[in-house]
Amino acid sequence: MSARPALGHVLCRLDEIEDPGARGFVFGEGEDRFAGFVVRRGETVAGYVDACPHVGVPLALTATGYLTRKGDYIVCSTHGALFQLADGLCVGGPCAGRSLRSWAVEVVGGEVLAA
Ligand code: FES
Repeated sequence: MSARPALGHVLCRLDEIEDPGARGFVFGEGEDRFAGFVVRRGETVAGYVDACPHVGVPLALTATGYLTRKGDYIVCSTHGALFQLADGLCVGGPCAGRSLRSWAVEVVGGEVLAA
């Protein structure tokens, strides 16, 4: 069974994520491990499973290193694939045309929750 957090689980406060910015979260370990990340743009968030569609490895080397320097795309640190912030579609790199798997998250009362 995946350690993906249950509906309503508080991940962090929205203001703990840079704008634009992203933050990764890991739950459980071994076969149950679930890793996801949340991208913030203003008051909106989008969540994705932290696995590149190219090879399946985590995208970032650090807990917040998911975006390009300008903050306009999600970038995979392994081979440089670029993904749109809003829908996770890969628009450049070895997995162009494929998408990150979404992870439902929402903002409620200034907190980011699993949805
Ligand atoms: S593993 Fe992400 S681009 Fe290759």
